[in-house]
Amino acid sequence: MEALNSPSPKPLLATLKGEKQPIPPIWLMRQAGRYLPEYRALREEKGGFLALAMDSDAAAEITLQPIHRFGMDGAILFSDILVVPMALGQDLWFETGEGPRLAPTVQARDVLEGLQATPEVLEPVFGTIRRVAAQLPPQTSFLGFAGSPWTVATYMIAGQGSREQAEARRLAYRDPALMQTLVDRIADCTIDYLLGQIAAGVEAVQLFDSWSGSLSPAQFEQWVIAPTARIVAALHQRAPHVPVIGFPKGAGGKLPAYARETGVDAIGVDETVDPDWAHASLPGDLPVQGNLDPLALIAGGTTLDTAIDRILAAFAERPHVFNLGHGILPDTPIAHVEQLLTRVRRGR
Ligand code: CP3
Repeated sequence: MEALNSPSPKPLLATLKGEKQPIPPIWLMRQAGRYLPEYRALREEKGGFLALAMDSDAAAEITLQPIHRFGMDGAILFSDILVVPMALGQDLWFETGEGPRLAPTVQARDVLEGLQATPEVLEPVFGTIRRVAAQLPPQTSFLGFAGSPWTVATYMIAGQGSREQAEARRLAYRDPALMQTLVDRIADCTIDYLLGQIAAGVEAVQLFDSWSGSLSPAQFEQWVIAPTARIVAALHQRAPHVPVIGFPKGAGGKLPAYARETGVDAIGVDETVDPDWAHASLPGDLPVQGNLDPLALIAGGTTLDTAIDRILAAFAERPHVFNLGHGILPDTPIAHVEQLLTRVRRGR
């Protein structure tokens, strides 16, 4: 790791590769979304989230909205982690005001074996990436993503979001062999999907593991760390120049094991983690991403400034990507996002 006095041409990508920048680069999870009026307008026009995500021109425009409005250091592909279950043969739709639905639910081996894979449904996503790559400002880094096998499996098993991921955790105890087959199938599809994203033009990828927090330590090893390590190894072998960010939300005290054992190039930390603890507990050269509370961003004012300063101070001595601890919420005032960028970039 080398501390630079002047920023790299692509500060986010450089940070993910371990080069500390004079000012941490910043992007926000869910930065293209409902808090932006220009997003809501296009979503209205296209008739819903999934139609939007599968329309390459619209999805490219949405990916670029926060770049044009705020000049974020990273653009994240506009899509969803649940397109992988679609490619594996489940039907996906979004119930207005409720969230995703998947069918049939995978709770028995014959259902899993009966799914007909349709990898071609992912083609529009690659189209989005090619369009964004052609239009992105040179200093902006382009991130692809996928869900981690465990988190994706929780939706495939329950058919929707679930309280404490109870259905998936029950299945993992009741039929670990079926769970292993499902997780392996998701992992294989995810490797191909991420390699496809890289071929189309993304420069780094993030694995979202939103529900890793509900697992016991032994299950965390089996269903989070092991499949993540397999995906990271496959990507490193076939795309060695592309950094992988792991984001095991809720992992808490299991973060150091995740960092050590998965081989990720950078680690996302949620807002429940004390940034001083994270800095002290994670390898000193590992880039850390996070971890402002999305509710502090809504609060604004001096509450927001204090929270930002605390994070900047904690991670001042290591490669740091400023981000939220989880996705930006729909009722976030745009002025507070501007306040955040101004404060993080003081002196730039
Ligand atoms: O970060 C980004 O802006 C990239 C795009 C992105 C979306 N979803 C767009 C989206 C990413 C990276 C995701 C990840 C995702 N999707 C996760 C993991 C991260 C997390 O938030 O925990 C999960 C669990 C999903 C599944 C999903 N998609 C749910 C549960 C929902 C409904 C809840 C909600 O927030 O509305 C979605 C819909 C979704 N995905 C929206 C967006 C912008 C909202 C769509 C809309 O109503 O306009």
